[in-house]
Amino acid sequence: MDKLLIEGGRPLSGEVAISGAKNAALPLLCAALLTREPLTLTNVPSLNDIGTMLKLLAQMGVKVTREKVGASGTVTLDASALDNPVAPYELVKTMRASVLVLGPLVARAGEARVSLPGGCAIGARPVDQHIKGLTAMGAEVSVEQGYVHARTTGSGGRLKGARLFTDMVTVTGTENLMMAGCLADGETVIENAAREPEVVDLANCLVAMGAQISGAGTDVIRIRGVERLHGATHRIMPDRIETGTFLCAAAAAGGQIRLTQTSASYLDAVIDKLMDTGCDITLERDAITLKAPARPLAVSIRTSPYPAFPTDMQAQFMALNAVAEGTAVIRETIFENRFMHAVELIRLGADIKIDGNTAFVKGVTKLDGATVMATDLRASASLVIAGLVAQGETLIERIYHLDRGYENLEQKLAALGASVRRVK
Ligand code: UD1
Repeated sequence: MDKLLIEGGRPLSGEVAISGAKNAALPLLCAALLTREPLTLTNVPSLNDIGTMLKLLAQMGVKVTREKVGASGTVTLDASALDNPVAPYELVKTMRASVLVLGPLVARAGEARVSLPGGCAIGARPVDQHIKGLTAMGAEVSVEQGYVHARTTGSGGRLKGARLFTDMVTVTGTENLMMAGCLADGETVIENAAREPEVVDLANCLVAMGAQISGAGTDVIRIRGVERLHGATHRIMPDRIETGTFLCAAAAAGGQIRLTQTSASYLDAVIDKLMDTGCDITLERDAITLKAPARPLAVSIRTSPYPAFPTDMQAQFMALNAVAEGTAVIRETIFENRFMHAVELIRLGADIKIDGNTAFVKGVTKLDGATVMATDLRASASLVIAGLVAQGETLIERIYHLDRGYENLEQKLAALGASVRRVK
């Protein structure tokens, strides 16, 4: 298995381009299931999770064409011959976001069998809200042998529009139900909807495909169902978590970097906190420049649904706080088990105490390289940041987690002057 070897202690300097957003791309790929006409997506990042989703769609009968145009990946999906509305355990277990096929499949094919994802490293992560919503839209849903089996019962095999309320804010739940609502008979209203920018990106693409959606980006989304959607071409938004990760890396390691092909407009909470650490940040329309202070100041954070501070940036801020001046309190409110990076950071010399969903991080003046193990995607990113700061060599094991969500990470870090090498 591949490992990442980092020789720490060098400030970052230079410019890198940010890739398309993984969490926007995954639901957008599934949107292709809603139409018989081709959907073309551009700015698709080259990531293992994208490969998994394409494999999943292909085995359902979707024709996938993938090409590289310049630095950006383009994928065209043709679901005209969709004949196998099944998401098998073998693929779902490697990527929870596979559940995003459920809504579009039931809406278009009238039936779906999707494996339950099971637990993952960061918590139980059930899909009960996805099921509750589809049931309210008239689907008959049962769970048999680890699979969610959903089918429509109404006339013409269509789902029925309904008023939906989710018990908590769920990003993929909102996306699944929004896609299902597009082909339902009548109006669907999703209350307590996720406001994440990726939900808006998906809604924009669906509207380009002929859907009638209003309110995406607010907590009430209205979808007037139509009988069919058509093809479209859509450019995927920049990855705000990749952007935030590079900003954190420079804030912790020192130096000055400029990130291009991105936007600060989805990152208010993160940029605010980085400014509180003492970073000097300059915003352009599609670029962000960060100049790190001599030593960052500690900043406390509390994760919450968008537009508040994202749980997907919590681990990276823990690494930054580990070397900051002062003490930070980090509260994780979205996932129950998302502090596994803390014990690895402690192995590098960080001073972190955990009490339930709260971490107390007392900044130290230096970290020392060691061998550490990545446990999930964003935890891996925090270890990379710590490795860039630590003196000597840090070897990160199980970096397949990083390959799921960061495109060309070593190359991008190397372009910023870091010493990062993949070892077999
Ligand atoms: C998405 C993101 C992930 C991010 C997370 C929170 C994608 C592909 N992934 O994950 O990177 O960390 O949002 O911003 O976009 N929950 C339930 N029942 C449900 C659904 C969710 O109890 O049916 C709970 C979850 O266990 C969690 C919370 O709700 O505690 C939020 O989860 P959710 O927003 O659904 O996360 P994902 O959409 O899986």
